[in-house]
Amino acid sequence: MTHRIEGREKVTGKARYAYEYPLEAPAYVSAVQAEAGKGEIVSVDAASARRLPGVLAVLSCENAPQLASRSNGELAVFQSRTVSYRGQFVAAVVAETLETAREAARLLRIEYAAEAPDVRLRDDHPGLYRPEEINTGVPADTEMGDPEAALSDSDVQVDVTYTTPAEHNNPMEPHTTVAHWNEDGSLTLYESTQGASTHQRTIARIFGLDREQVRVVSPHVGGGFGAKGTPRPNAVLAAMAAREVGRPVKFAVPRQQMYATTGYRTPTIQRLRLGAAADGTLNAIVHDVVEQTSTVREFAEQTAAPTRIMYRAPHRRTTHRVVALDVPTPSWMRAPGETPGMYALESALDELAAAAGIDPVELRIRNDTDHEPESGLPFSSRNLVACLREGAERFGWAGRDPAPRSRRAGRRLVGTGVAASTYPARLNPGRATARAEPDGTFTVRIAAADIGTGARTALALLAAETLKADLGRVRMEVGDSSFPTASVAGGSSGTASWGTAVVRACEALRERLNGAVPPEGVEASADTRDEVEAQERYARHAFGAQFAEVEVDVDTGEVRVSRMLGVFAAGRIVNPVTARSQFVGGMTMGIGMALMEESVMDERFGDYLNRDLAQYHVPACADVPDIEAVWLEESDPHLNPMGAKGIGEIGIVGAAAAIGNAVHHATGVRVRDLPITPPKLL
Ligand code: MOS
Repeated sequence: MTHRIEGREKVTGKARYAYEYPLEAPAYVSAVQAEAGKGEIVSVDAASARRLPGVLAVLSCENAPQLASRSNGELAVFQSRTVSYRGQFVAAVVAETLETAREAARLLRIEYAAEAPDVRLRDDHPGLYRPEEINTGVPADTEMGDPEAALSDSDVQVDVTYTTPAEHNNPMEPHTTVAHWNEDGSLTLYESTQGASTHQRTIARIFGLDREQVRVVSPHVGGGFGAKGTPRPNAVLAAMAAREVGRPVKFAVPRQQMYATTGYRTPTIQRLRLGAAADGTLNAIVHDVVEQTSTVREFAEQTAAPTRIMYRAPHRRTTHRVVALDVPTPSWMRAPGETPGMYALESALDELAAAAGIDPVELRIRNDTDHEPESGLPFSSRNLVACLREGAERFGWAGRDPAPRSRRAGRRLVGTGVAASTYPARLNPGRATARAEPDGTFTVRIAAADIGTGARTALALLAAETLKADLGRVRMEVGDSSFPTASVAGGSSGTASWGTAVVRACEALRERLNGAVPPEGVEASADTRDEVEAQERYARHAFGAQFAEVEVDVDTGEVRVSRMLGVFAAGRIVNPVTARSQFVGGMTMGIGMALMEESVMDERFGDYLNRDLAQYHVPACADVPDIEAVWLEESDPHLNPMGAKGIGEIGIVGAAAAIGNAVHHATGVRVRDLPITPPKLL
């Protein structure tokens, strides 16, 4: 167990986050958001803004320089008069101080030719279409057997629809860019990002630069949850503003502006149909998903993807339909796809268990499979059943009275619920260098991101282990695009992908080391592309089981989670202390999803109404019980040199279903519309 190696730097304030980079005479940016939900900008009157002392520049569609690439509509900042959604950045002021910039932004007069925006997701929306493919590059629809016939032939049937709201990532550190153009025409960005290399590539393309002409520096990042996995408009705007005023600029997106500009989880409408024999054996699974994208850019979340891999059933169909609304483009939020998809599937399984009179743990065990149902591939390892059994044992599941409203503690109804969890084990190619210094220390570099997860520490441990050196002798450097190229901190792929590159670089270094290290040091590097491409064909996923106990106040409908246990099988756990935090953090986000988190769309004006953490509720300490997260020893030779599967996202998957199932057990009320707020129970 190793605490974060940068922990002291963080708690003493020495760790530098993007906004804090000291640059000479920085200017400050304040952005203006569209007040129309759809339409055209007729005019931008900046006269009074420009008169304010200290204002350096006003940027909008009327004067912004043309970007070299506008193919990503989300990032084509100020490139046209079109307003695609309310809250879109339509102008910005650059000024000597942030206060001046904000005041001047307030003075801008923007006139719109506005139309009524179409912002409501419905499953009968005429604009629904089948995307070419969904986000992971797989087909939108799949079908095996004859699901319709199989459903009607089944002894037990469930046909239910679940809805999940839009949810917003709320990292503590806002999206921040400090942009600085160097004298040689290159650009340096101090950025809060989940991927320095991908950020570098995207920004270079947008400004028509070579990749090497952009440097992204981001050694410390205060959370992201997917929202910082792709560059957001703030980065383009800051770079544009810095070029305009010929000075470094700083731009941190205020939380109030974040809800429209930095991504969110799509709302979903999911119809689940299950058909089973009387003993609970699944015969058919049909999962039809409706979700939203924007007019700016297609984003088709892979919501039904987990339904393709979870349970044995000869007949199955999954579909995804999206509609392009006048809304910001949805983006990644912790376990995009798996999170809403498994909420629906695992809630429906609970409904099937109740309908068939079978214990919900037993029902899942009975429908386990030894190969991935749709692809037919063997699993590299799959320990779902072991997780369920271990969890049932630890949680005290045995002897549970399945009847709803069967337990009471004073005014509170008590119930327990279970759900399964899964997340893909991905491996992305990347590079790393390892260097032996003459003083006996090692420097290992990779453009990986530590967004607070402990990734840097895990990589340092892997390097030390491979080099057979003390951890204290390893200098682990991440978060800089000038280091060897790395994939994004997303899809729970970081430790596996970067770890492979680090291990291979360290192995190569060890081979080259013999005798004294010369004054210039000895360096070795690795590129894992070939190794990643040569991976054998296996279905690779982590699995888990979530257990929750809730207490529901019979008078107020208030739900309190009193106990929660997650048991995970995610390959080798590299660093238990930070891994546990990832699991617990994911489960905590699951509490938020189940009971609190909801971005409310204003259908008249367009845009989400939430503006801060008073309006967007996430669990506070008092909402979170002593969550227990444990894992099974899992040895899987088909993954990567570490045998690690990835742990950042699986903790949230299934957590909301377990809580919803517990609420049903406690109250007898099946809420199929998240979040489960008190009025829905009364
Ligand atoms: Mo994760 S939502 O892929 O950063």
